[in-house]
Amino acid sequence: MSEVAVSPSAKAEKLDAADELAALCSEFVLDDVVYLDGNSLGALPVGVPGRVDDVVRHQWGELRIRSWEESGWWTAPERVGDRIAPLVGAAPGQIVVGDSTSVNVFKALVGAVRLAGGGGGGGGGGRDEILVDATTFPTDGYIAGSAARLTGCELRPVAPAEVPGAVGPRTAAVLLNHVDYRTGRLHDLPSLTSAIHAAGALSVWDLCHSAGALPVGLDEHGVDLAVGCTYKYLNGGPGSPAYLYVRSDLQERFDSPLPGWNSHADPFGMSPSYAPAPGALRGRVGTPDILSMLALEAALEVWEGVSIDSVRRKSLALTDFFLECVSAYVPEGRVESLTPAAHAERGSQVALRCADAGSVMKRLIERGVVGDFRHPDVLRFGFTPLYVGFGDVERAARVLGETLG
Ligand SMILES: Cc1ncc(COP(=O)(O)O)c(C=O)c1O
Repeated sequence: MSEVAVSPSAKAEKLDAADELAALCSEFVLDDVVYLDGNSLGALPVGVPGRVDDVVRHQWGELRIRSWEESGWWTAPERVGDRIAPLVGAAPGQIVVGDSTSVNVFKALVGAVRLAGGGGGGGGGGRDEILVDATTFPTDGYIAGSAARLTGCELRPVAPAEVPGAVGPRTAAVLLNHVDYRTGRLHDLPSLTSAIHAAGALSVWDLCHSAGALPVGLDEHGVDLAVGCTYKYLNGGPGSPAYLYVRSDLQERFDSPLPGWNSHADPFGMSPSYAPAPGALRGRVGTPDILSMLALEAALEVWEGVSIDSVRRKSLALTDFFLECVSAYVPEGRVESLTPAAHAERGSQVALRCADAGSVMKRLIERGVVGDFRHPDVLRFGFTPLYVGFGDVERAARVLGETLG
């Protein structure tokens, strides 16, 4: 056990006392468990059950079909998209909510190849290649493979850092993760996006592990298309709908591979031929999942008045403190951090490589410290700045140290 000047528990107390976001934890349903799995499923915001009850009993139970208009059900995908927009640095009118992340990866990637005029059957230009993050969350890789087959492109897996050297005149689109789901590594979105643009290709970013945890700056950095889930740091609930961002100047040419009646310019005209609606709602497909969508809308209310910069400051302080406590409590050599030490390369989670990680995580959970296990040997701890405190961090590292001791 290494020496630290102040004991970790005393330091935790000081950090908690100075935490400008500390009061926000009362906005969530929590117990005495240390919950470090918000990078998988965010905790329940206290306002959600009442809202869902109203949506079910009043909007559905009493107003029934009138709610499509009177309760704003029909416009919910764009309205909720506009609530997410400031959290990812997007002006209104560019995000639509609905479907899963996987489905939105498909829309975005095929849409990007079409925007690039690429693909075997596309508008020429010789762009017949899609680059995909070689370390990606599996669903993105599977879908990129299918998108490549459908568009007549070749799929080339490339490590994100290698993208500037790999992207070229053949590349139509590049699909990258902002934060790696396994290691917690944050990729350099501004410089990778500009390298992709310099080669004339389009960028598609998966924001699942960054939205709600750190600033993304979609508009500022000129990202073309992006997708993300809402059940992690946005706390929308299990299976809450994902979102699709299409930069405003690309929307008019965005040709969705899933044109449904909800994205038709005149959805109730019931025309046999398709004419896309203007704007972000071109990314819609079919009838939105209203119960999940409105649970998410209620969950997003906790962000009122919260700046994403203060969230990032706290996130880095939490992960720094966790790493410090791990080196104080965990016997030397038992774990190895896969998460970069440099702030510029770190998301909001810490991944520790550990022998027998699956059973170690089981024992942690039995002792009230909930993280998760990723095959084959990774303990993953997610730090949601809205409800995780420094005392939680100290306790998690202490219990980990005792478990491995
Ligand atoms: C980076 C990333 N992309 C996509 C997904 C999953 O997408 P879906 O919402 O379709 O299940 C996850 C789920 O954890 C993820 O971490």
